[in-house]
Amino acid sequence: MPLLANALDPAGPAARDIEDLWKLLLWLGTATFLVFAVLLVLALFRRSRNRDHDATDTGPDDTHGRTVRPWLIGGGVVLPTVGVVVVLVATIFTMQATATEPGDDALTIEVTGSQWWWGVTYPDHDVVTANEVHIPAGEPVRLVLTSTDVIHSFWVPSLAGKLDALPDGDNVLVIEADEPGRYNGSCAEFCGIQHASMDISVVAHTPAEFQTWLEETAQPAAEPETEIAAEGQEVFQSADCGSCHTIRGTDASGDSAPDLTHLASRKLSVDDLHRWLSDPHDVREGTTMPDPNLSESEVDALVAYLESLG
Ligand code: CUA
Repeated sequence: MPLLANALDPAGPAARDIEDLWKLLLWLGTATFLVFAVLLVLALFRRSRNRDHDATDTGPDDTHGRTVRPWLIGGGVVLPTVGVVVVLVATIFTMQATATEPGDDALTIEVTGSQWWWGVTYPDHDVVTANEVHIPAGEPVRLVLTSTDVIHSFWVPSLAGKLDALPDGDNVLVIEADEPGRYNGSCAEFCGIQHASMDISVVAHTPAEFQTWLEETAQPAAEPETEIAAEGQEVFQSADCGSCHTIRGTDASGDSAPDLTHLASRKLSVDDLHRWLSDPHDVREGTTMPDPNLSESEVDALVAYLESLG
């Protein structure tokens, strides 16, 4: 299972097409460089040998011109033209192959970029999550990309190429994972001070596991079962977190920040959550999350509540 984002470790058809194109460019570029390097070395040797043997040589004459002309035409016109045409044709074929839309029965997921997180909605299944796109493995999935603010770019290199998420229109990216696993990626368009930390993961499941995930994620949040989690729920309410975040099954129904209904089922670290809630602006300069100004014990309780949202 690939843990690092790596375009040269393709795990789906589109990423494989792109890797093939990359290899073609690499080998074509390498071959061209080697041919010209050899010719350059030969030319330098020949020139110095001619000088040594013919001190009366005063410069180019007709013979010289006749020798050089085919090289100029071959190396300066024919070779670059052929190279550029080969690259152009291969690129057009790759673009066509990676942009082919799946049929109407393919799963559609809306992915919305915001500074600096990703909202993920399954319009046909009443499911909303964030920063993780869960898909069934082995079938093409349609991602409808958009943005609430500036231009972002969705890029999970081992599955597909990158595509902009625009504030004023939808872009469709088709992704497919061969095997279940977690595939990491990030925003690929500079979108502000926290651009580099705007990560995204695609989690591919077997089709049966994906159905289970959909059903579980469509459920409302669990009621807190421990005393400290119940205290944390009160902290959540008194700090008015629900004006930006949604926790389905509670009064919290804001939509300008990540949905937290099943936060604990996402990959996150309790330590990070602690640091985040203690001082969000220290963790992520420029974040739109207001500092909730909580005491240490309130942070502990709130983390316990969020951890209970499985
Ligand atoms: Cu979003 Cu860079």
